[in-house]
Amino acid sequence: MLSLLLLALASPAVASIIHNRAYDSPSFRVPQLGTSRDAVRRNHKRWEYYDGKVEFPYNVASGDPESDSVILWTHPVPTTDDPRPVCLEYQVSKSNDSWSDIITADQVWTTQDVDYSYKVEAKGLEPRTTYYYRFANCADKENVSPVGRFLTTPKEDDVEVDKLSFAVFSCSNYPYGFFNAYGNAAARDSIDYAVHVGDYIYEYRGDGCKDYYSCYGDGRDIGRVPEPNLELFTLEDYRTRYKQYRSDEDLQALHASHAWQLVWDDHEVADNSWKAGSADSNDTVAGTQYNTSFTERKANAVKAYFEWLPIRTVDTDDGLRIWRSFKFGTLADLFMLDTRQYNRDLTDLYYNTAEVRLLENDDARSLMGGRQENWFYNELKNSSERGAQWKLVGQQIVFANLVSDNVDAWDGYKANRRRVLDTISQNNIDNVIILSGDSHANWVSDITYDEKEGYNTVTGDGSYAVEFAGTAVSSPSSLGYNSTLNKPLPAEQYIQTSTALINATGNEELQWSEGATRGYFELHLTRQDATAVFYGIDDVRTRHSDERVLATFVVEDKANKLRRPLADGQVTGGVLADRG
Ligand SMILES: *[C@@H]1O[C@H](CO)[C@@H](O)[C@H](O)[C@H]1NC(C)=O
Ligand SMILES: *[C@@H]1O[C@H](CO)[C@@H](O)[C@H](O)[C@H]1NC(C)=O
Ligand SMILES: *[C@@H]1O[C@H](CO)[C@@H](O)[C@H](O)[C@H]1NC(C)=O
Ligand SMILES: *[C@@H]1O[C@H](CO)[C@@H](O)[C@H](O)[C@H]1NC(C)=O
Ligand SMILES: *[C@@H]1O[C@H](CO)[C@@H](O)[C@H](O)[C@H]1NC(C)=O
Ligand SMILES: *[C@@H]1O[C@H](CO)[C@@H](O)[C@H](O)[C@H]1NC(C)=O
Repeated sequence: MLSLLLLALASPAVASIIHNRAYDSPSFRVPQLGTSRDAVRRNHKRWEYYDGKVEFPYNVASGDPESDSVILWTHPVPTTDDPRPVCLEYQVSKSNDSWSDIITADQVWTTQDVDYSYKVEAKGLEPRTTYYYRFANCADKENVSPVGRFLTTPKEDDVEVDKLSFAVFSCSNYPYGFFNAYGNAAARDSIDYAVHVGDYIYEYRGDGCKDYYSCYGDGRDIGRVPEPNLELFTLEDYRTRYKQYRSDEDLQALHASHAWQLVWDDHEVADNSWKAGSADSNDTVAGTQYNTSFTERKANAVKAYFEWLPIRTVDTDDGLRIWRSFKFGTLADLFMLDTRQYNRDLTDLYYNTAEVRLLENDDARSLMGGRQENWFYNELKNSSERGAQWKLVGQQIVFANLVSDNVDAWDGYKANRRRVLDTISQNNIDNVIILSGDSHANWVSDITYDEKEGYNTVTGDGSYAVEFAGTAVSSPSSLGYNSTLNKPLPAEQYIQTSTALINATGNEELQWSEGATRGYFELHLTRQDATAVFYGIDDVRTRHSDERVLATFVVEDKANKLRRPLADGQVTGGVLADRG
């Protein structure tokens, strides 16, 4: 007993390995996930850590801010090949000047078991406060990382907060183009937080052209050939891909300048994934490639995701749960949904489209799974009851009912969509704004039931919510792309396609369609209104900072529809509905 006690006292390192959240997975129920800290301890009996220099080639990141804590992330690389654990001290300060006034700090280890990922929760912070953070090598305190910055959220009961802004991103495909969108948002610095609704990486190999959605060129002409240059299956594959993405300077800039809230879409695992498979993998012999079943592949992908992204582990007893929520005083709640990996029923896998079309009205079908659906509906009700003004729903696929009938979007899960609308309408919940990605084009819609009963297509009265679906950071347009030339189509072709979409009978909810540009949008909330500003980038085949405001939409408090005239009648791209 005494010797154990002495050992514990002599080994502060025991505690420090516990605090590295990179060893956690979203779930203790999935055996392939997470890394046993006991096993790690057994491998490093002498409690001796690396005493050479480290580099920080992947910079720093922060995420999932709360009013008193945040997740901080980095990934040190020892300069010599040495199997010993690396010890870093994270440091948080209100100033980036002298680093003499450190508010919180701790020494935490990382090891090869988690590929040297380092993820900690910094606690004891003040609400609505800007902090700076960095990581110092325990063996040499002069050997420090770059400095990052984040803002804590307002306290849940903060009634004074009257301004809040986010930039919303999706679909960043490395070989297809440069991440100008991330770089521009970091440089303009006009937001509080960055939200990513998925497809943060792509799992394809460079020449993986199966169809025009997945035919993204090989990246050779712009020096962005995927690493490894094969489709991802193993843990090592996914880790290598994250290393490549996180070497990108624009992505690094936005990670360092703002805390992010992220959820995954399909490509963090595999194209058109659902709970039990993806377009090209499943757990049958035929669907097993590289001797990796879909279940193993998903576990590999998920483990790498948790190692690389600054997100919290929400509930280790609940499957692959990453759906979670954030409170921003009484101004807003943000719900981050997982419509992909958690419990999605069968989706369109290209060879079964007709079959899935037959199922789209099935009441039992769920996109989110029963547990997440119940959670979400309760959260919406609670949010309304606690008086949170704006209810932001960060999720992946396009929500509006569209005649294009993409059954890999909410259109393929109509009963789940109706249950969301029932929750909103039956509880008189105001100010719901849905934030979507996935589609590589811009779509702005009022949201009502599929039958559109009581919906005035001119004024928007009878709408229950609003959707802002943003285009891709770099993935090519879903409204057409010339994969032979590896170039967008001529601009007028996008205008023709958008005009047809806006004019199609059944698409009356859709108010703006734009497919020519890559980019992102910002959402600025006040007590009076929510304003979405869409930024378009014409060319992502070179790295530059050119972008333009395509359109600005306003949703007034409690209006639950887009303000007319739409975008004040002015857009610099795409097609605005004209139903007056
Ligand atoms: C912190 O200070 C350093 C040194 O002056 C500077 O290079 C860096 O840009 C600053 N970082 C932030 C996030 O302000
Ligand atoms: C599994 O994948 C293979 C190959 O893509 C496909 O032929 C097969 O139909 C799939 N099986 C199921 C049950 O989806
Ligand atoms: C799959 O496993 C078999 C049997 O162990 C082996 O012969 C084959 O090379 C493996 N294939 C791949 C792609 O790893
Ligand atoms: C909603 O509020 C009730 C009552 O405060 C609480 O028991 C429940 O856990 C909350 N639900 C969610 C999803 O937060
Ligand atoms: C792509 O460009 C080539 C060469 O100009 C042309 O022949 C082809 O029709 C274009 N494809 C599309 C989809 O526009
Ligand atoms: C839609 O069609 C009508 C005529 O049917 C036309 O006047 C209008 O300009 C078209 N375009 C849009 C964007 O509404």
